[in-house]
Amino acid sequence: MKSFAAAATALLSLASISTATPVEKRTPGGVTICTGANFSGDCSYQVVSFNQCNILQAPYFKSVGTFAPDAGALCRITYTADSCTLHGDAFVQYPGVTDLYSYTDVNGNTINAACMLLAATASADCSRAMLVESASRYVSAQSSGQSTIMTSLANNVSYTENDKPLNIRRGVLTQPLKIDHNRSIYDTTACATFTELIVAKSPHPYVIGTRMLFTNNQISTIESIVTQAGDWAFNATGYLYWDSLEKWNPIPEGKRDSRAAIKAAGDAYFDRFDNVSVVVPWGTPCARIEGGAYTGSRNLTANTCNLGVPSDTKVTNRRYVIDEEMGAVDIFLGFPGLDRSQGEKPMPDSHVFRVEGGKIRYIHTVSSCVNVGCGLNGTGIPSLMQEKPEWRHAGGRWARS
Ligand SMILES: *[C@@H]1O[C@H](CO)[C@@H](O)[C@H](O)[C@H]1NC(C)=O
Ligand SMILES: *[C@@H]1O[C@H](CO)[C@@H](O)[C@H](O)[C@H]1NC(C)=O
Ligand SMILES: *[C@@H]1O[C@H](CO)[C@@H](O)[C@H](O)[C@H]1NC(C)=O
Ligand SMILES: *[C@@H]1O[C@H](CO)[C@@H](O)[C@H](O)[C@H]1NC(C)=O
Ligand SMILES: *[C@@H]1O[C@H](CO)[C@@H](O)[C@H](O)[C@H]1NC(C)=O
Ligand SMILES: *[C@@H]1O[C@H](CO)[C@@H](O)[C@H](O)[C@H]1NC(C)=O
Ligand SMILES: *[C@@H]1O[C@H](CO)[C@@H](O)[C@H](O)[C@H]1NC(C)=O
Repeated sequence: MKSFAAAATALLSLASISTATPVEKRTPGGVTICTGANFSGDCSYQVVSFNQCNILQAPYFKSVGTFAPDAGALCRITYTADSCTLHGDAFVQYPGVTDLYSYTDVNGNTINAACMLLAATASADCSRAMLVESASRYVSAQSSGQSTIMTSLANNVSYTENDKPLNIRRGVLTQPLKIDHNRSIYDTTACATFTELIVAKSPHPYVIGTRMLFTNNQISTIESIVTQAGDWAFNATGYLYWDSLEKWNPIPEGKRDSRAAIKAAGDAYFDRFDNVSVVVPWGTPCARIEGGAYTGSRNLTANTCNLGVPSDTKVTNRRYVIDEEMGAVDIFLGFPGLDRSQGEKPMPDSHVFRVEGGKIRYIHTVSSCVNVGCGLNGTGIPSLMQEKPEWRHAGGRWARS
């Protein structure tokens, strides 16, 4: 195949936006570029202003394998010239092209380099497809340890781990983790996702719960609860095992609960924590995975989650992700008293509820403590897996080994 000496400019163009679009609605577009196909090689995330020509610099100049614009972005790329041409030679839109080296244009020509140009417009729609793509990229980013795989990150994305603000380039996303299980739920009303990750078969196991919020189809908030040995009932092997026995298929269309009913089921569970009159819609069967411990394990045939919950605990700061198709609600919250060494300070916690016919079928919890063993000194629930000294460092618990 013939290939072009590609141009290396990028120009953001507003071609796809009607002239009636108010200028204020135009937000900058970003694009993830890698020298290799499928997000391999050198990758970077570049933010380009509208209608500006951007000549790609080394190592991307004439050497682009992956070109993935943000949702809402429209890029014009030029490959028939060394600088931007007004209309470019091709449009590339979200989710982009993962193998530009074998991307053939209408004339049958392969593009072997790209100058990008382009740009974008964020549409207000929050599609399930966009959420699925973004969550899948998040999982890939954690798997490879390259946060640059995540496109559509807002410039000023707010990123926290266990409620602590952190630079996304410093956190757990910088570690490649061998993910044994991932599951996401998608909220097209609130424009948000929740993802559960289990890393069980590695020397340093993790269970991570991540909530992402989108604004104009860009990720504006990422909050992760990153749990490991020493956190509440932590047992990644158990989490993986018990989860593998469960069925989280989409709920058939005629049987879906309303958003309100799904949320109410999750809320009732926590309302009951400080009000014994609240009736929780327990399903039968019902199973709860708590950090990796399994509620049913003492009596599997009972198939119940109703094994006692607190009656004097007021959980704080509930934040929801609700997916009617999966019958699921995830609630992030502050759990006071979880870490006995912290008094009543609320601890970072996520509970995801699977609701079927208005009743709770499954509960998965991820709860982070400040101190190993949650201040129980090995006397209570946290069935500790051994924390290794190399997982710690001077600054705190969340060492990256
Ligand atoms: C990219 O990934 C796809 C799907 O996994 C695969 O079919 C394709 O061969 C890969 N391309 C390259 C160049 O690695
Ligand atoms: C990020 O920037 C947007 C647009 O300028 C602004 O509305 C939003 O409040 C900012 N978010 C944070 C976390 O600073
Ligand atoms: C995430 O889970 C899906 C199946 O639900 C699987 O196809 C995919 O490979 C997983 N991703 C990673 C990085 O493990
Ligand atoms: C973790 O869970 C697995 C599967 O239930 C179990 O075999 C194992 O004993 C548990 N480990 C600890 C430390 O409790
Ligand atoms: C406790 O729950 C019951 C039943 O839902 C409700 O009627 C009552 O108002 C609640 N009490 C408080 C203090 O919220
Ligand atoms: C297990 O639960 C079932 C149903 O509630 C009950 O009938 C049975 O006695 C329980 N078994 C044990 C060993 O507690
Ligand atoms: C755990 O040990 C600390 C220090 O010895 C002590 O102050 C605390 O009361 C103990 N907590 C429990 C729940 O036993």
